[in-house]
Amino acid sequence: MGRLLYDESNLPEISTLKAANYDIVDKNTVEPVKRVGVLTSGGDAPGMNAAIRAVVRAGINAGFEMYGVTRGYHGLWKGEIKELDGRSVSETLQRGGTFLMTARSQTFMTDQGVLKGARMMEAYELDALIVIGGDGSYKGARALARIGMPVIGMPGTIDNDIASTEYTIGYDTAMNTAMQCIDKLRDTASSHERCSVIEVMGRHAGWIALNVGIATGAESILIPEVPYDFNRDVLRVILDGRNTGKKHYIVIVAEGVGHAEAIAKQIEEATGIEARPTILGHLQRGGSPTLRDRTMASLMGIKAIDCLIEKRFNRLVVMKNGEITDVDIEEGLEMSKTISPETIANIKRLG
Ligand code: F6P
Repeated sequence: MGRLLYDESNLPEISTLKAANYDIVDKNTVEPVKRVGVLTSGGDAPGMNAAIRAVVRAGINAGFEMYGVTRGYHGLWKGEIKELDGRSVSETLQRGGTFLMTARSQTFMTDQGVLKGARMMEAYELDALIVIGGDGSYKGARALARIGMPVIGMPGTIDNDIASTEYTIGYDTAMNTAMQCIDKLRDTASSHERCSVIEVMGRHAGWIALNVGIATGAESILIPEVPYDFNRDVLRVILDGRNTGKKHYIVIVAEGVGHAEAIAKQIEEATGIEARPTILGHLQRGGSPTLRDRTMASLMGIKAIDCLIEKRFNRLVVMKNGEITDVDIEEGLEMSKTISPETIANIKRLG
């Protein structure tokens, strides 16, 4: 450490820091880790507390001093950093949200924000920073990595839309919450012979919609990854159902596709069947994490600390082929992940 101290009124160009410092970290020539920061960033996800607890406890057990950064990158560049001991994470495993709080920091998207964050890491002598969040948060971590500040990313988002990993912390809880809500909506839709159009989260991704749709027996699942034809994929499916005696219908819409209200109106106008929209919204982000999210968060936290023990920096903790492992942050952020049209086509066989 000690490479980045500079005069606040005379910030260096980020590009001049980039190559030299990234190489140093990449070649693992730095001293063993002593002090580690952890923050949560972006949308909160159930299991983030379990992840913080895991890195704090496993970190302390590895001999590190652990520091919590509040309000994500926003708190980092403002120096909202304090030491966490093993007891400070007691009773957090089962709680939703993140006790470190989170933010979507616009400042951190700028060179100056990144440099200020790096400066705070130096001021607190943090040898590494663990970032729990989604791809947006990883980009902030990569910016730090590129100027020589070691980072580790852990996947925390309900959307499961991080390309480098098969699983993200919070996904299972969010899907179970959505499923339970939709089961309730089904009761009333069926009593009134209505169509229930439910918008689930996923600004750019249909993972929640896809699996919740399967689990609730939805007539139609509309996701951003696969273009849909209203007549073929919605209208005819509902009318075919009605013509064989069906009395209620569930249509799941991922947030990224369009609005439940507009789609419900379109269905009602085209079929004459009463259609009601429901937006599940932030309900899906809250609540006590499921067993899967608690265990994934705990095991991924241990893996993050393993990377630091082994001085393998700038890694993303991932699930690959069902195993918890890690990949380089640059490589991870280059990956892409999508849902194939065949997956949706296959699900139609359940109708
Ligand atoms: O956490 C991801 C996500 O849930 C997206 O699916 C959604 O679009 C977004 O967060 C909304 O977050 P906010 O309302 O906090 O900006």
